[in-house]
This record gives sequence, structure tokens and C-alpha cells, in this order.
Amino acid sequence: MSGTAPTKRLFIKTYGCQMNVYDSERMADVLSPLGYAMTDVPEGADLVVLNTCHIREKATEKVYSELGKLKEMREENVAGGGSRSTIVVAGCVAQAYGEEIMRRQPAVDLVVGPQSYHQLPELIARTHRARGERLAADFAPDAKFDALPARRASGVTAFLTVQEGCDKFCTFCVVPYTRGGEWSRPAEAIEAEARELVAQGVREVTLLGQNVNAYAKDAGGEGGLAALVRRLARIEGLDRIRYTTSHPRDMDAALIAAHGEVAELMPYLHLPVQSGSDRILKAMNRAHTADSYLKTIEKIRAARPDIAISGDFIVGFPGERDADFEATLDLVRAVGHAGAFSFKYSRRPGTPAAAMPGQVDEAVKDERLARLNTLLDEQARAFNAAQVGKVLPVLFEKKGRHHGQLIGRSPYLQAVHAVAPDRLIGQIVPVRIESAARMSLGGALELESV
Ligand code: 5AD
Ligand code: SF4
Repeated sequence: MSGTAPTKRLFIKTYGCQMNVYDSERMADVLSPLGYAMTDVPEGADLVVLNTCHIREKATEKVYSELGKLKEMREENVAGGGSRSTIVVAGCVAQAYGEEIMRRQPAVDLVVGPQSYHQLPELIARTHRARGERLAADFAPDAKFDALPARRASGVTAFLTVQEGCDKFCTFCVVPYTRGGEWSRPAEAIEAEARELVAQGVREVTLLGQNVNAYAKDAGGEGGLAALVRRLARIEGLDRIRYTTSHPRDMDAALIAAHGEVAELMPYLHLPVQSGSDRILKAMNRAHTADSYLKTIEKIRAARPDIAISGDFIVGFPGERDADFEATLDLVRAVGHAGAFSFKYSRRPGTPAAAMPGQVDEAVKDERLARLNTLLDEQARAFNAAQVGKVLPVLFEKKGRHHGQLIGRSPYLQAVHAVAPDRLIGQIVPVRIESAARMSLGGALELESV
């Protein structure tokens, strides 16, 4: 704390995936030298940024309703003699619908796509002179990463983007269009950023990419994600490494071996399968079958028997029949998930699946989603319950809701709360697990760690 009041207030609302969370942090880093400090509420902020998500229709709709609210808020504020906040739309909706946003919502001062955040200071200065700037659509992440300032950590865990974009073209997905082709950052730059984070007290990094396990494959780079993980694991003080999101196709032997050999690589893997029906997987252009997915899981479990598996599922993809959905349930039963995300298929304009015959009724989607969620829920509860009685190493991250309590994470990404002194924040401590709920575990410190 410097003691001087921040000159300007910045509010960022983040939608969607962890890459947007990372991007929001980097936007704050870029704007900080200009005197912008973060605030938790949009009221009274000088600069409001919506970092948007385009993946499903609902996420996209939210942007317009939020913009409507912001417009009103600003009008009231100005009428009351307050200053006029600048409204920026960033992220994937900005990339896809920049022109339309400017047209539909005149309150927006600036639209900026994910590859242009390093230019924010200049763009904001320009919007203060005249509205109407729009910057998107150049898929040149090199320029962005090279121009971003030093990384500032704000806790003991951090996200670290290593790869962007996707060349897989699953037929339901907008990502290849909004985030461009697969592109990987150089390993040196990633290592440097990881070291910056560790120097600020970070103990765990989650490597991010839309297709993170395709890391370095675009450049014909050697070793891929496995080599990167091994390189980062050598950094003194970096004790935990995770990565997300992966594609089953890119789960190669080297990466599977790393799960068995690199102690810092946490035993948790988010490996979306989307469906358990080969017919649907083919229509989705997933380039794997239910069986090849199960074989991959088998290999990973052979390398790291305690690994926790999570995934993404889509129900109601065009042409999905009852038998296809049953095949998905069968696959879920065969895998046993620690957690998962499930979605109703959302028709995205411009993607091949949007034009496919056999679009499924909302009511059928609802019913399938509910059944799938019941099963996934049971599995998550069972996974958590199985930890009771075990001693798990917990990385404490922050104070808990109750007095004297800290919250941390198990290797399996479960939230764990325990009564513990504040000085243990940032430490990895053995905790005996005593209780389990759907979303978290409760435990007590093992005596020797107190
Ligand atoms: N409809 C529903 N879910 C989708 N996802 C991606 N596109 C769609 C869509 N059109 C889901 C996939 C993906 C996750 C990030 O979002 O399951 O893995
Ligand atoms: Fe979308 Fe498929 Fe690429 Fe994942 S792999 S980002 S679902 S196109």
C-alpha cells in the first residue's frame, strides 16, 4: 500500500472461461500504470469493462442486458453530478459482434477483441476524445503478449496462458472463429512469467489454453505440453502445476507419462468428451470415439492411479436420440467423474451444427440435462466422500467464511476448509478430511503442522 488514493476506479466483470479471468487480470495490469485501481462495484467506476463470453447463447445475451443496466446507472450518476464512466466491451462477443454492439448499444464507448488488450491505454485515451473505436479481428497474440507489462500476482494460485485458439472445429463451437487458430507462447516467456509469479508468492499455476495440450504442436515444437510442465516443475517454489482445457486427441504418451513422473503435476484432469455416442461424436467432428476416450483414461489412470477426472458434456446436440443419450450416461458411469460441466446444446450462428437437421426440443434437452446432472452429482459426492479419513496436502489460499478458518485446495481441486492460523496461507499443509459435501471438504490440521 502506498497510502495515496487511487486516481481512477476500474470495474471489470468477467464472463465465461478461465482464459477470460486471466485476460481480465492482464487488463488490470495494463491499466494500473495509468492510475486505475480495481473496485468491486460498477457504481462510481471511471472505467467499466465487460469481458464477455460467446460460447453459448445465454452468455451472449447477458452482455446486452448488462449494458442496458450500465447505461441507466451512468445516466443516473451523471444526472446526480457524478462523472461519466467509460464503458468497454472486451472478450469474445466483442470479437464476434463488435460492429453490432456499437450499433445496438450507443452507451458503449469502446469494443476491443482479446488480441488487442495491450492497446487499451491508447484506445481509452482515444475514446475520451471521440466515441466509436472498435478494435478486433487481428489474430496476432504475439504482439499482445510481447507488449503486456510485468505480471502482478494477487494470491498463492494464478492462471498462466500458454496457448490460445483452436483448430479443431467441433461443429457446435464458436471458439475457432472468435479466438483464431492454435497459437502457443514461447516456453521462455512462459517460464519468465511463472518466475515472476513465484517471486510474488504464487505456489500453484494453472496453465491455460483453449487446447492447452496442443501446446507447441502448431510450431512443430518439441516436447509439447509435457516438456513445458517438466521445465516449469524445476522452478524452485512452484509446487503445483495444473492445466486446462484439454482435447482427448492431444493426450499424448509424453503427457500421460508426465502425470506419473512429475510430482508437481496435480492429479486432476479436465478432459472433455462431450458425448458417449460415436454417431454424435462424429457429427460433432470430435475425432475420437467413446472407446478411444475410455482407453485414454485407462492409460492415464495406469500412470497416475489416483487421478481425478472431470469433463464437459453437451446434451441435445442435433440428431441426438434417446439411445445416444443413454450411451453418454454409460460413458459417465464407466469413467467416474470427480466433477463435470454439462450444457444443453446451444445453436450458434455460423457453426456447422446450427444448420444440421434434427434440432432437439428444449423440453427434451431439459430432461436429459437433469438426468445427466443427477448422475454427475452422485459421482462428485461419492468422490468427495471417498476422501473422508484421508490426510491430504492442502494449499491454503485465503481466510474462510467462519472465524479462524482457512480455505485451500486439495490436489484434486476440492475446496477444503479447516481451522488454521493465517500464517499458513500460502503453505501446503497436511489436513485430515473429516467431512464431505457436494462442493467442498472439511478437515482438521494434522498435529505436526500446527
Ligand atoms: N452449446 C453448448 N455447449 C457448448 N460448448 C461449446 N459450444 C457449445 C454449444 N454451442 C461447451 C463444450 C465445451 C465447453 C467449454 O462449452 O462442452 O467443452
Ligand atoms: Fe471448441 Fe472443440 Fe476447439 Fe474445444 S476443441 S475450443 S470445443 S472447437
